[in-house]
Formats: sequence, C-alpha cells, structure tokens
Amino acid sequence: MEKLKQIYYRARYHGPFQDWKVNKGNFKGRIVLFLFRIASFVRKNPVLTVLFIWYLALYRIIIEWIFNIEINWHVRAGKSLKLNHGHGSVIEASTVFGNNCTIRHLTTISNKLLPDGTYSLSPRIGNNVDIGVNAIILGDIEIGDNAIIGAGAVVTKSVPPNCVMVGNPARLLKKVYSQHSIN
Ligand SMILES: CC(C)(COP(=O)(O)OP(=O)(O)OC[C@H]1O[C@@H](n2cnc3c(N)ncnc32)[C@H](O)[C@@H]1OP(=O)(O)O)[C@@H](O)C(=O)NCCC(=O)NCCS
Repeated sequence: MEKLKQIYYRARYHGPFQDWKVNKGNFKGRIVLFLFRIASFVRKNPVLTVLFIWYLALYRIIIEWIFNIEINWHVRAGKSLKLNHGHGSVIEASTVFGNNCTIRHLTTISNKLLPDGTYSLSPRIGNNVDIGVNAIILGDIEIGDNAIIGAGAVVTKSVPPNCVMVGNPARLLKKVYSQHSIN
C-alpha cells in the first residue's frame, strides 16, 4: 500500500513543461521530455488515446527513429527529469522515477526475464537520483533517494539511499549526505 501511494504521488502530472527549467541550455532534452509528457498524458486516458493515436505514432517515430531514445509513455516520472545527451537510452514501461532525477546517454532501465518466462517489473528510482552514462539498471528493484549510479555501472539489486554505486556488478563506492550532481 505504501508503495502504491508512493507511485501515485510520483505519477502526479505537472504539465508538459515540468522538465523545461532543469534542461536549460539543452534543447534536445527539452523537446524529448515535452513530447514524452504529452504522450504520457494522452495514454492515461482511453478517449484521448483514441483521439490522439496519430500523436502517439508520431511520438514513437520522432523519439525512437530521429532522436534514438526510447522512453515508453507508461514510464511514471516525477517532475524535473533531466536528460543529458540521451542517445541510445532505453527506459522501459514500468519504470518509476521520483523528482529531480538525471539520466544520460546509453542508459538502460528495464525489466528482467524471469526463470518462469515472464518479465519482472522495472526499477523504481527515488528522488534526486543521478545516473551516469552507460549505466544499466535492471529488474524489480528500488534505487534510494540521492543515490548516484556511476558511469558504466550494472545494477541488479536494490540500492539504499545516498549510496554511490560503481562497477559491474555494482558495488558501494561511498555514501553522500547531500544532494549532489556528478557532471
Ligand atoms: C561514480 C562517480 C560519481 C565517482 O566520482 P568520484 O567520487 O569523484 O570518484 P573518484 O574519481 O574519486 O574515484 C574513486 C574510485 O572509484 C573508482 N571509480 C570512479 N568512478 C567509477 C566508475 N564509474 N566505475 C568504476 N569505478 C569507478 C575510481 O577508479 C577510484 O578507484 P580507486 O580508489 O581504486 O582509485 C564518477 O566517477 C562517475 O562515474 N560519474 C559519472 C558521470 C558521467 O556519467 N558523466 C558523463 C557526462 S557526459
């Protein structure tokens, strides 16, 4: 129940410009996330989905074929999502982001194929999580608030808040005690 409440909170809609400010100077990030927020809004409502099916088709063509990024419209993202570069990133449908998260290029956040042939859920990412380039985060796991996922890390287990994780498989490098960015 707590988890559901948390997801509902994170899913609250703040309009298509909610990522505009944090992506200042990054026109591509702004455009991709603007289009994503609209697709996400449309897809939540069956009537809008039918009326704007053309938009959803266009969204996929523009985002996936032109910008080379896959952010599924079912992804639930809190406000102020930052997309740096973004090329080659894949964010699977059941991923949840808190507020103020950053993703970069070649980032994969996705599900895992389970032994019974079904797929797990995708990760739930907390608030202020900063994800380095080429990071891979897989499975039904939680990434705690303020965590930093280093460049090239492969994360398949939950990460507590404030941890800096690096490597494959990801290991704890250190803890950080204030929100900070890894640019
Ligand atoms: C994880 C990270 C935040 C750590 O930064 P830091 O605290 O300054 O760490 P340091 O550079 O002091 O390195 C500390 C140790 O961790 C290791 N390390 C750092 N980042 C690592 C990474 N991504 N993977 C594996 N090991 C890493 C270093 O080799 C060093 O090891 P040593 O103590 O054995 O010499 C940073 O290295 C990182 O990966 N940032 C990603 C930023 C990014 O993606 N930028 C792309 C911009 S386009």
